[in-house]
Amino acid sequence: MDNDWLATNAPSCDSLLEEMRELWSESDALWDECRNRLEFGGFVSADYLEIYKQLLPLQGKVATFLEWGSGLGVVAIMASRLGFEAYGIEVEPLLVEHAQRLAERYGCHAEFAEGSFIPDDYQWGIEEVGNPSRTNCDARAAYDDLDMELRDFDLVYAYPWPDEHGLYLDIMKTCGGHRSLFLTYDAREGTSLRQVQDE
Ligand SMILES: C[S@@+](CC[C@H](N)C(=O)[O-])C[C@H]1O[C@@H](n2cnc3c(N)ncnc32)[C@H](O)[C@@H]1O
Repeated sequence: MDNDWLATNAPSCDSLLEEMRELWSESDALWDECRNRLEFGGFVSADYLEIYKQLLPLQGKVATFLEWGSGLGVVAIMASRLGFEAYGIEVEPLLVEHAQRLAERYGCHAEFAEGSFIPDDYQWGIEEVGNPSRTNCDARAAYDDLDMELRDFDLVYAYPWPDEHGLYLDIMKTCGGHRSLFLTYDAREGTSLRQVQDE
């Protein structure tokens, strides 16, 4: 845990941060319990404090938030508790069920849909974006279930596998909103926040 950051910022968001820390440890325990029952098996959780630090200054600046591959839904739940209209899309049904239960337990309105975050109209330029190994590229898109399109989200968050950053960026560039922000996490590089249409 980043104690310097907490010492500076915690007073303004103390109680929520405490609750979120409970959520993080509960989700770790849940993951240990269900990891062997997954069909797709590509779930790894991000550094939630790092993501929390990125979301805090965006409060009041963006409204709609989407977590791609939401897993246990922790980031979407944090976003909802921070005041965003938050959604998650996850291909593993068991993880979606757990995310919905966690959202209820932590009193938030995040909505989760089972399916793919890759829009059905995404035009694959697979040579340019690499060959995805861990992202499910066959499942049907889940945007209709949320009654939203990818371009409707002000802020999209994802944790791509190292060889899949190109694919994720390409999806955002071709199907995301003109002013959408894209927040990514990488175990080695940390977080990155950008407006992809400007690149
Ligand atoms: C690296 S984990 C990230 C979990 C969580 N978002 C986080 O940051 O802690 C990637 C997640 O994406 C899910 N996933 C893989 N392909 C997907 C797809 N096409 N659509 C939706 N979810 C997908 C996996 O099941 C897994 O839960």
